[in-house]
Amino acid sequence: MALQGVIDTLKNTNLQEIGVSFSLADLMRDLKIEDDNVYIKLFSPSEKYHDYLREKAETVLKSIGAKNVQVEFTSEPPKQQQPPQPPPTAQQNPFESRRRIPKVKKVIAVASGKGGVGKSTVAVNLSAALRKMGYNVGYLDADMYGPSGPTMLGAKDKQVTATPDNKLIPPEVHGIKIMSIGLLLPSEDTPVIWRGPVLFKALSQFLFDINWGEELDFLIIDLPPGTGDVQITLGQTAEIDGAVIVTTPQDVALIDVKKGIQMFNEVQIPVLGIVENMSYFVCPDSGKKYEIFGKSKTEEVAKQYNTELLGRIPIEPKVAEFADLGIPVVLAKEDSESSKAFMKVAEELIKKLSKQ
Ligand SMILES: Nc1ncnc2c1ncn2[C@@H]1O[C@H](COP(=O)(O)OP(=O)(O)OP(=O)(O)O)[C@@H](O)[C@H]1O
Ligand SMILES: [Mg+2]
Repeated sequence: MALQGVIDTLKNTNLQEIGVSFSLADLMRDLKIEDDNVYIKLFSPSEKYHDYLREKAETVLKSIGAKNVQVEFTSEPPKQQQPPQPPPTAQQNPFESRRRIPKVKKVIAVASGKGGVGKSTVAVNLSAALRKMGYNVGYLDADMYGPSGPTMLGAKDKQVTATPDNKLIPPEVHGIKIMSIGLLLPSEDTPVIWRGPVLFKALSQFLFDINWGEELDFLIIDLPPGTGDVQITLGQTAEIDGAVIVTTPQDVALIDVKKGIQMFNEVQIPVLGIVENMSYFVCPDSGKKYEIFGKSKTEEVAKQYNTELLGRIPIEPKVAEFADLGIPVVLAKEDSESSKAFMKVAEELIKKLSKQ
């Protein structure tokens, strides 16, 4: 069987029945063809889709002449991108002691160089989008000083409990497991005046001492803005499968995107791509798009730094209104422009992870 024919067939096999717009080829991690026998390895972090994907692959490959089709699945974490290594020195490598977060298949950090660009909005809606696609999802609010997850997910009244061996049990809202320092503080006004070691300890408890229950397909970590302690601690202690950087289209925000990418390179976390938020405004009366911050240069910057634009989210008053009500717009208003844009980002992200 011809390799190109097989690849073309996989490319033409869409997976719309499970609500995604990508093809079998997008999930392919390995392919071997020997005479009429085909072996294919597919990326699928959730076992839920294995039967569906196996049947789909067998059907289409047999339809083009394959006699035997062997399908395997993988949820293996992508290999960490290794920036050029300096020659070994006596100094200890700070990344050697990194651990995987227990009971989580894929860990994605949502970050931004600049504050207020919509990181939490993206993190929350990405969690909801992945949940809607059928994945088991957790959301970890790592913004220790300004947690907004509990508000945006409507979890402010939810209780955190603990196991007898002191592991935190996260509550669940909209089918998403959530943990945030905001759920542990006595009131919303309690200032978090934590510094240094205390912050480190709390963060490390959030990373390694949470009992997420049934294994998560994705854990989305909502980071505080900038390139400070939390980001460095995260990079040095936990294995993160990739970072998504959120920006707005203005030049000032893009300068910070560059800093963000450089920081992730330094802490050896692969950058999966950039999400441009508040990209444009759609006039509700005419449906016309207005790029109110001028022509976007995000794609250019993404290319320059060897990454890609995962999607552009419009400014829509509904995004903020539903966030204040505690329902991600992806769940509250499925037919809105922003909701569709968030779903697309989730799909792009899965595509990107499947290629690593
Ligand atoms: N696409 C959008 N359309 C309309 N409003 C939005 C959009 N994205 C974010 N917002 C609103 O902008 C405000 C800031 O967003 P958000 O809290 O997500 O930013 P952030 O980057 O997490 O901020 P911080 O740096 O403080 O953590 C919120 O009120 C949010 O509801
Ligand atoms: Mg935030």
